[in-house]
Parts: sequence; structure tokens; C-alpha cells
Amino acid sequence: MKKWIQKAAVQKTISYLPFGRSINYLFQKYVTKGVHLTDSYFYDRLEHAKQHLNAYKKYTGNLVPQTALEIGTGWYPIVPVAFFLTGARHIYSVDIYLLTSKERLETTLRKFETCCNNGQLQQYITVLPERYNTLTQLLQNSPRFTLTEMLQQLGITCLIEDARKLSLPDESVDLVNSNNTFEHIYPHILTPVLQEFKRVVKKEGGVMSHFIDMSDHFAHFDKSITIYNFLRFSDAQWKWIDNNIQPQNRCRVYDYRLMFAQVNLPITEQTCWPGNPAQLQNVHLHPKFAQHPLTEVAISHCHFISDMRHAAD
Ligand SMILES: C[S@@+](CC[C@H](N)C(=O)[O-])C[C@H]1O[C@@H](n2cnc3c(N)ncnc32)[C@H](O)[C@@H]1O
Repeated sequence: MKKWIQKAAVQKTISYLPFGRSINYLFQKYVTKGVHLTDSYFYDRLEHAKQHLNAYKKYTGNLVPQTALEIGTGWYPIVPVAFFLTGARHIYSVDIYLLTSKERLETTLRKFETCCNNGQLQQYITVLPERYNTLTQLLQNSPRFTLTEMLQQLGITCLIEDARKLSLPDESVDLVNSNNTFEHIYPHILTPVLQEFKRVVKKEGGVMSHFIDMSDHFAHFDKSITIYNFLRFSDAQWKWIDNNIQPQNRCRVYDYRLMFAQVNLPITEQTCWPGNPAQLQNVHLHPKFAQHPLTEVAISHCHFISDMRHAAD
């Protein structure tokens, strides 16, 4: 049996268990080895942080957002820590579940330290010396602090809530961002989330910047399948395969464009990774996907930027 099918079956089973998320963490840590903070993961998210800040600067003229909001904290808060180091004051990261921990935060901070010591950090972001000093002091004194206290010193607040109903005031956020998160949220939830982002982001001087990974995530783990494998299935079949611990909505770039349009959010700039159309040609696509232009379906990743000055009500 293919590795991805085994993983799908295990995650599906775990998703029905109490404490499914914690069990999934252990499964990923010790069996699939998918939760270790690798250099490639760390630098990928650091590149996202750099691109978010570039987008913010391009559309506002300001170097750093005072208030930033990320959806989908995940296990390692790399982008929020990067924003702290550049000078952001209030950094919110919203997730329905608290997946990070003191140990994972320390791992993240140590990666920043190594990255700074080897001279690479400054190639991504402009680090304020006093902020970096706070980070190193925190690491040295971490046994004295709880996770919340450490996050507090980094200006980070983890909001454990549904992003469809944020506890933030209207027009209070300068930069809303996400990192490989939208693909895990089904459209009937993501559309109201986008609507809520529109409420909290500033109309004047507000920017949104979202990275979306549209590849079949089982292919990250099982190299015997392509990143388009999941496009073979109908919605009904996918419902059996997919799980609610790490759901994949299988949306393509045109679906995201439609969701933005439905809530009148402008896509001021979009960068699309073409993927591998030749490879996609060899996949027996379900008609749901086959009816769209192959080059559109093939797009594997995208980065959407919204300049909120152009948002309609
Ligand atoms: C793949 S993870 C995030 C990955 C992380 N951003 C990274 O860089 O690796 C997606 C996260 O989105 C969160 N999520 C899904 N729906 C949400 C919602 N409606 N509100 C808040 N968080 C949500 C999930 O709990 C999950 O932790």
C-alpha cells in the first residue's frame, strides 16, 4: 500500500480520537518525521516574512507594520518572531488550537540565533539590535518564564479563536498575513474569514499578504505521487480520504480569486508558481478540475497581496 494512503488512514483514525491533535503531533514527530523544524522550513517562512514586509512597504511606504495579524500559528511561530525583530509592536497570531509550546518557541528562537550568527538573518529582514538582544536574553532566561510570558516579551499574542469572529476592533491591523494556511480551510469557512479580515484591516494603509500552497501535501511525504494526485478524486471520494486534523480543500487559484471577489477584496498583485503542467497532463483529472484550463489547474503556489485602499465596501 502506498505510503500516502497509510498516512491518510492513520490521520483519519486519529481525527476521531480524543486528543487527536496531540496524538497527530507525536505521530508526525516519531513516525513521519514531519514536525521537526528543518532549515528548509525555517528559511521558507523567513522568506515569507520578507515578502510580507516588502509588500507592506511597497503599498504604504512604511518599513514595519505596528500591528500585524497572522492566521494559522501552527507549531513554530517563525513569521511573528521575524516581525518582532524588525520592530512591530503588536503581533497577533490566531488559531483555533494552541499548537505551539514553550519548547517549540525555544526551538524557533534558537533557529533565529543560529541564523543571525551565521550572517543569514540580515539577508531576509532588518533586525533591530535591541529586539535581538531581547531574544537572546529570553533564551538565556527561559527556565524562568512560561510560554505566555515569553510571547508577551516578543510582543506576540496568540489568539485562540475562530478567525471568522476575531476579538479585534474594526480597522485595527496594518498587515494581515497567512502562510500555507488557506489551503487547509474549506471555502464555506474561508470566505467569512476573509470578510472578517476586511473588517479588522485598516482601510487606509492596510495591506493583506497571503501565501497559499496548492500542492497535495501527501506528496511532500510520499515521493511516489505527484503534487496533483488529489485532483483525481471527486468531492465525495475526497471526503473519505481527507481528515479534520490537517484538511486539504484542494482549491485551485481560480477558487481563491472567486472567494476574494465574493467579499470585494482586491487582489492588487498575484504571483503564481506555474507548477508542472506536463506532469499534470498525465494525471487522470476528475471532471471538476478537468473543465478548467490545464495551466490554471497546474498552478502549485500563489502569493496574493491586497492594498486595502482599493477595497470596495
Ligand atoms: C497548516 S496550519 C498553519 C501552518 C503555519 N502557518 C506554518 O507556517 O506552517 C493551518 C492552521 O490553520 C488553523 N485554522 C484553520 N481554520 C481556522 C480558523 N477558522 N480560524 C483560525 N485558525 C484556523 C488550523 O488550526 C491550523 O493550525
